[in-house]
Amino acid sequence: MLKVLVCVSGGGTNLQAIIDSVNNGTIRNTEIVGVISNNRNAYALERAAQNSIKAEVVSPKDYADREDFNKALLAAMDSYEPNLIVLAGFLVVIPKIVIEKYEGRIINIHPSLIPSFCGTGYYGLKVHVAALERGVKVTGATVHFVDAGTDTGPIILQKAVEVEAGDTPEVLQKRVMEQAEWKILPKAIDMIACGEVSYK
Ligand code: GRF
Repeated sequence: MLKVLVCVSGGGTNLQAIIDSVNNGTIRNTEIVGVISNNRNAYALERAAQNSIKAEVVSPKDYADREDFNKALLAAMDSYEPNLIVLAGFLVVIPKIVIEKYEGRIINIHPSLIPSFCGTGYYGLKVHVAALERGVKVTGATVHFVDAGTDTGPIILQKAVEVEAGDTPEVLQKRVMEQAEWKILPKAIDMIACGEVSYK
């Protein structure tokens, strides 16, 4: 059984897709053992509570400095003894100490077709603003392993989504979530749970 810890910061629609997929069998051999958020107001925490999943907040605001936060984040992660850590809209720079301990066991969902529109400063709606400004006709989402870089780890799955005339960033973001993120993130977890993909 793959023990999955999900890290969130916002609405938690990707977390919900994972929960639903575990419940309906799309994700096999998996248990969501916990949710960690850096944002105590994240609706994702409500989704965890609605599904009786242990959740906690580890916020940088509660620590004297970043080093103390990083240590607290690692300790919180360790407490769940996860086999896989899923970053589902987690807007925190993953500390080096976490990468060193869990490299190969952390995956992230990014709302573009990496290597386009990724790296420092490209997150959430900003990704879709950049895609529309560039005028791409196709965008999408990527699930990748997390390494020491930003959106640079080995790619696991990608799914393309059409950009339509008149798209606003919000409309495009929703289409990418519905047609790509909510499909490939559960699929990637299932593949890992069934030994169909490994790091590097
Ligand atoms: C999504 O757009 C995802 O691609 C990005 O952050 C957002 C998370 O949304 N990484 P949600 O919290 O899963 O609804």
